[in-house]
Amino acid sequence: MSVSIAIDGPAGAGKSTIARIIAKKLGYIYVDTGAMYRAMALYLIREKILPSETDRISAKCREADITIRYENGEQVVYLNGENVNGLIRTQEVGNMASASSPNPEVRKKLVELQRRLAAGSDVVMDGRDIGTCVLPDAQVKVYLTADSRVRADRRCRELMEKGVPCDIDTIEKEIIERDRQDMTREISPLRQADDAVLIDSSGMTAEEAADAVIALI
Ligand code: DC
Repeated sequence: MSVSIAIDGPAGAGKSTIARIIAKKLGYIYVDTGAMYRAMALYLIREKILPSETDRISAKCREADITIRYENGEQVVYLNGENVNGLIRTQEVGNMASASSPNPEVRKKLVELQRRLAAGSDVVMDGRDIGTCVLPDAQVKVYLTADSRVRADRRCRELMEKGVPCDIDTIEKEIIERDRQDMTREISPLRQADDAVLIDSSGMTAEEAADAVIALI
């Protein structure tokens, strides 16, 4: 039987960094579900669909073929055959992903893909609804969070490393708004699963948080 570790939490809590470290240490596959919602969002942006156009999102998402491959140990997301890894990390795509992810058609399609990946391999999967919905039987469930200012600071550093100028107050406001959208949506809202362990990474390094998760196994 394959083993699953589910890590949920708000934007910028360090989920992907920590999940990557765990996957490497344990030899598991890292599944970044946010990247799938981002690839879908990129498709919708390209199709000039607005976050408020629910019916058009339902119809258009059927045309987006999202697949995952692992190349040199990294997850690569393909949108209709195109590698979009380099295009989905913008704030615009993140905001559209948060706005379009409540759509039931979008979720159904991507949850199926996520479950298929977990059925075939040992995985560390991160997202918003992994412990509560995608993999309710995951052997380890973690809800990873951090103070919104700390999360904004981390995002700003990431952006500055890429040479993108940023304003921490604006980023923090956007993070708080995304949390609100993700936590208040009707389908699969972001929340801590009853059997998930809460880890606050505010004062921790990524290594320390990863070790705290590994200690749970
Ligand atoms: O983790 P991220 O910032 O890459 O995710 C982008 C958006 O995708 C997030 O705001 C909400 C959505 N998402 C989701 O609804 N369910 C998931 N399992 C992962 C992400």
